[in-house]
Amino acid sequence: MSAAVDLQGARALVTGGAGTIGSHVVDQLVQAGAAEVVVLDNLVRGRVANLERALAEGPGVVRLVEGDIRDVRTVHELTRGKDVVFHLAALRITQCAEEPRLALESLVDGTFTVLEAAVEHGVRKVVASSSASVYGMAEQFPTTERHHPYNNDTFYGAAKAFNEGMLRSFHAMNGLDYVALRYFNVYGPRMDVHGVYTEVLIRWMERIAAGQPPLIQGDGLQTMDFVHVEDIARANLLAAQADVTDEVFNIAAGEETSLLDLAGHLLAAMDSHLVPEHGPARKVNSVVRRLADVTAAREQLGWQSRITMDEGLRGLVSWWQAEQVAAP
Ligand SMILES: NC(=O)c1ccc[n+]([C@@H]2O[C@H](COP(=O)([O-])OP(=O)(O)OC[C@H]3O[C@@H](n4cnc5c(N)ncnc54)[C@H](O)[C@@H]3O)[C@@H](O)[C@H]2O)c1
Repeated sequence: MSAAVDLQGARALVTGGAGTIGSHVVDQLVQAGAAEVVVLDNLVRGRVANLERALAEGPGVVRLVEGDIRDVRTVHELTRGKDVVFHLAALRITQCAEEPRLALESLVDGTFTVLEAAVEHGVRKVVASSSASVYGMAEQFPTTERHHPYNNDTFYGAAKAFNEGMLRSFHAMNGLDYVALRYFNVYGPRMDVHGVYTEVLIRWMERIAAGQPPLIQGDGLQTMDFVHVEDIARANLLAAQADVTDEVFNIAAGEETSLLDLAGHLLAAMDSHLVPEHGPARKVNSVVRRLADVTAAREQLGWQSRITMDEGLRGLVSWWQAEQVAAP
């Protein structure tokens, strides 16, 4: 049987759908003509405001349920009658390190509940969010999906690797169709700008807007492989629509950008001539290089990153500036 899900008229559950990436998945599901999109989010990080556009464009289509993937009954209730589940609910890597038991309960047990419900209620496909963290500091570049996971030493990466294993076992045991997506370095509108776990781009935007140079901790030569949230959301939809199952894909631009280059791109996006400043390296980040091989996603899902870094950063800056005006 085909593992392709037609999203036109489909009924979808999106866990973590009020978050940065999940809310873009919801937007795109509305645009694709989904009949029903239920968001399950406990709003620990997600925001109702992230769904404003989807709620406006898809009245009667999108429904937000404030609830938890750890709540077995709620997950089963919301999964019943759905064609497809996009599973994005998770905690940030830093929070997983600080609260590993909560991470175990949310990322591992919560994911088990999502998969168990998907099988019980005959969901056609699960599209799950994994992460480049499963590689830890990779040994080969560009890194393919076949790279081993033994260099990961984070609890978050361990949970994501286990989730991928759990998906494979549910496919083998119950025939559950799924695709897992390993996102690399994510950026774009609706990134967290207020919380404890804000990222370097947000801190730099604040400094540049205040006339201060972006502060790079260390030499800034470590590299990342950036991918825009809208491109990631599109990968989620393509993963559902493709006749592909039991596979994992890298989702990245497939380009290496150093922190120093990133600062340069951001300064240009903010029309600033400031020069980045270097401070002492604050903590040792064992992952100093990221570069994905994205051939598999291109060949099997027909996906590749479209939004260039300059375009993406300009969009991020305009969104962030509007946020500052709305909530100074
Ligand atoms: N942002 C990144 O850099 C990145 C990189 C790789 C993978 N990912 C993965 O992508 C997915 C989405 O990430 P994001 O960047 O949008 O993060 P996010 O924090 O914005 O979104 C996660 C959402 O899950 C919700 N949530 C957390 N625990 C929950 C629970 N127990 N029950 C219900 N809802 C819960 C949060 O409120 C939030 O809205 C996650 O699985 C994440 O691990 C993110």
